[in-house]
Amino acid sequence: MIEPHGSKELKPLFVYDTARHQALAKEAESLPSLLLNSAAAANAVMLGAGYFNPLSGYMNLADTLSVAENLKTSGGLFWPVPIVNLTKETGIKPGRIALRDPNVAGHPVLAVMDVQAVETISPAQIETVARQVFGTLDPKHPGVATFTQLGNTLLSGPIEVLNFSYFQTDFPDTFRTAVEIRNEIKERGWNKVVAFQTRNPMHRAHEELCRMAHERLGTDGIVIHMLLGKLKEGDIPAPVRDACIRKMAELYFPANTVMITGYGFDMLYAGPREAVLHAVFRQNMGATHFIVGRDHAGVGDYYGPFDAQTIFDTRVPPGALKIEIFKADNTAYSKKLGRVVMMREAPDHSPEDFINLSGTKVRQMLGAGQAPPPEFSRPEVAQILMAYYQEIDAKK
Ligand code: ADX
Repeated sequence: MIEPHGSKELKPLFVYDTARHQALAKEAESLPSLLLNSAAAANAVMLGAGYFNPLSGYMNLADTLSVAENLKTSGGLFWPVPIVNLTKETGIKPGRIALRDPNVAGHPVLAVMDVQAVETISPAQIETVARQVFGTLDPKHPGVATFTQLGNTLLSGPIEVLNFSYFQTDFPDTFRTAVEIRNEIKERGWNKVVAFQTRNPMHRAHEELCRMAHERLGTDGIVIHMLLGKLKEGDIPAPVRDACIRKMAELYFPANTVMITGYGFDMLYAGPREAVLHAVFRQNMGATHFIVGRDHAGVGDYYGPFDAQTIFDTRVPPGALKIEIFKADNTAYSKKLGRVVMMREAPDHSPEDFINLSGTKVRQMLGAGQAPPPEFSRPEVAQILMAYYQEIDAKK
């Protein structure tokens, strides 16, 4: 099986040993507490689940700046996005603290952290990091808006994770750790596995991308791996996306070719940098290939349509990652051929021969009470989406 990133074995930071787990939970009761922000909580969940292997906790200032600028830690580990615990709290001292979950009622302890350094990150350094990671400082960019408001105190050090926040309870059938996905891939006997990132209900473009990658790469299976954390306003909530994806896979893919799974992380909208982070954590969960299409993890017009592909040639040193990238061109519905194609593979077509498929367009149609046509969404998927939009309309 493909090795995890940066180590031979996966080292999830969730505490699986029952006795140790109980001891930590008990210890946490008497420790000073920090209420995390959602970004830091999501990082803890990813670290706990093994997705951020081989990191042992939150990065310090030197690593944060080094990763932002050079995509590697000061120790030389390839890593594309700083994994930080930034806070507005100023009273935290080095030593053990309980990290509390902002996204669960009662703020239970999510993890125990051994704070090794408490550093101030200056506004200029925050800007440098944001510019490097997001490619912009525009406060209208949702990722920049979130990141620049997290605080100026950077807490770094190892963590031990006690639970998976609301993800395991809210999405019991879909949330999976990297450990679980690795195990399931092994159990199914799959060798070549392509992973698909999505934050959308899967429309025809998404479905065909998976099919094309599966067939062309000759993979044993596809792992659809959806984001279950926070999204920007207007994006479709995870339970609705989950239902759409399950319906699509059940009706349109042969049995036992698709695993439907999700991970607990908030969307960064960091385009190319996030695409590389996505590749790292798909390698950690055991995928050998990863699909990157048009405007992967993008938002608005901040990134060129294929920046998230070229970064793998320009900023990822050869051999830094073992997972291979399936770079997909823009997929569109060909009126001439009556099916979804990659545009570069239909050179005889003129622009009018295509219907462009985009999640944004589907959302706009749904918002206006129109059912997306079959070129955009499978009818069974459109039905689920229409029901959801009618429900929100009724609440207005
Ligand atoms: S993302 O933010 O999670 O990347 P989305 O769920 O829309 O957004 O996309 C999932 C994957 O499908 C990404 O790799 C994206 O590039 C790709 N994709 C979506 N629509 C298209 C399309 N029309 N053509 C090519 N690739 C696409």
